[in-house]
Amino acid sequence: MIVRASRLLWRLATDRPYRNVVWLYWVRPRAAFQPVNDTRPDRYPGIFRFAQAALEADPLAGRPLVLLSFGCSTGEEVFTLRRYFPAARIKGIDINPGNIATCRRRLAEQGDLGISFARSKSTTGEATGVYDAIFCMAVLRHGGLADATLTRCNHLLRFADFENAVADFARCLRRGGLLAIAHSNFRFNDTRTSAYFETVLKIKSLAPLFGSDNLRLPETNGEVDAVFRKLR
Ligand SMILES: C[S@@+](CC[C@H](N)C(=O)[O-])C[C@H]1O[C@@H](n2cnc3c(N)ncnc32)[C@H](O)[C@@H]1O
Repeated sequence: MIVRASRLLWRLATDRPYRNVVWLYWVRPRAAFQPVNDTRPDRYPGIFRFAQAALEADPLAGRPLVLLSFGCSTGEEVFTLRRYFPAARIKGIDINPGNIATCRRRLAEQGDLGISFARSKSTTGEATGVYDAIFCMAVLRHGGLADATLTRCNHLLRFADFENAVADFARCLRRGGLLAIAHSNFRFNDTRTSAYFETVLKIKSLAPLFGSDNLRLPETNGEVDAVFRKLR
């Protein structure tokens, strides 16, 4: 018990991203989604390969491609995207300032002028229609909703915040651009914004799903719509 408490205090004192995760978890600022910053390199190879092939074949795609990782955590997703998209301009944004400090330290070691990071809780500061793809992976969710006895989610996440977030992603994407949303607790196709998109890829997801009324939806076979193309 004392050993565990000392370890926790030591981590809080020395690990800034973790300290910010604890703050996000307990304070829950408005528009914060998943506070936990779990990530790893090449976490979604199926989605990344799909986006690579789709953008290579797309005559409307910008050259160089412009990509956004929303909720990039400590940068593994951005550095993975660099391997799939060697010439792209890639930006990572995250609400957790400790994560962004770690991303920037890694970037300084690698010296990649096509990558940038910013601390932000939304895309409202991004320009309109510039992105060829936005990746929002394991962000629009909350680990606390894994509890199977919960019938609603609005004490941790609200559909209205999800709806606002994806509406602004849509503003930032160009026509024909891709929006990838993985392991969300809400369905993109329940939003008004989805009327401007078509589904182009489904994936397996174990995340419990909640509706636009914030009430839990019945279990499905685990397959959900995950990548969407902007039509207009
Ligand atoms: C589980 S991690 C996902 C990391 C990475 N996308 C992946 O899938 O490996 C969730 C990340 O979302 C970030 N996040 C949560 N709410 C956010 C918001 N409103 N704006 C930007 N980032 C947010 C957290 O700080 C955390 O780093």
